[in-house]
Order: sequence, then C-alpha cells, then structure tokens
Amino acid sequence: ADEAQALAGILAAHAGRPGALLPILHDVQHAFGHIPRASLAVIGRALNLSRAEVHGVVTYYDHFRTEPAGRHVIQVCRAEACQARGSEALWTHACRRTGCDEDRPTSADGQWTLEPVYCLGLCASGPSVQIGERLHARMNPASLDAKLAALDV
Ligand code: FES
Repeated sequence: ADEAQALAGILAAHAGRPGALLPILHDVQHAFGHIPRASLAVIGRALNLSRAEVHGVVTYYDHFRTEPAGRHVIQVCRAEACQARGSEALWTHACRRTGCDEDRPTSADGQWTLEPVYCLGLCASGPSVQIGERLHARMNPASLDAKLAALDV
C-alpha cells in the first residue's frame, strides 16, 4: 500500500506536464530502486499510454532497472575515455569478483548489482566507478577489490 501511495504521489507531482514519462520513471526508480512491474500499467493509465509503451521506454534506457538491485550497486564506466584507460579489463574483473555480468546484473546472493555506465564525468581520471552514491576515479582491479572488500561484510 505504501508503494501504491508513493507512486500516486509521484504521478500527482507530474500531472499535466508534457513529456512527463521520463521524469516519472526517474522518480520511481529513485523511490523504489527499480521500476516495479506493477507500476507500468498505473503509469500508463496516468499518461494515456499502454503498459507496453511504458515497458518499451523502460527497457530502452540502460539506466532503468526492472528488477530490484542487490545490496550494493557498482557502476563501471565503459565509455570511450575510460576504455582507453583500461575500463574493459576492470569490467571483466568486476564481473568475476561479483558473479554478475551483462546478462545477470544482480548476483545470486543479492549482494551485488553490476551495471555499465557511459560516462560519470571523470573522464580525465578514469577508469571511473560509482559504488552506491560515491564516485571513484583511477580505479584498477586491486583498488576495486579493496573497496568491495570494505563493503562485503
Ligand atoms: Fe568514463 Fe567519462 S568516459 S567518466
């Protein structure tokens, strides 16, 4: 019921605004950590869109998560500047370390969610990684391990 109420609040805040779908989806993910399946039809009704249309937008953008995230969300930048500084090796290492990959972003034990991102705004000092709300520059496999070990308790 709390979830429905929170969703109603988000929809009310955007009522009548053109182009409200993306801002609504951002707010929903911020509130719930992902876009709950049950919210798709409710959002659609509020905007006069079909559930399928809303679902299409959610799956189009990498940013939106359709499943609940693990306890810790790790985002590795895979955009060009970070790639030039070794982010692909870091990504591969992060997959091994967390048990996640492109097809399975959240580990079986629910501890980790690993996601690619395309620029975190720290291009000059990549590879960049965001862990939870915190940005980290100049990461390598060893420094990533150290950060994750500090969380993995
Ligand atoms: Fe990675 Fe910009 S390319 S932070």
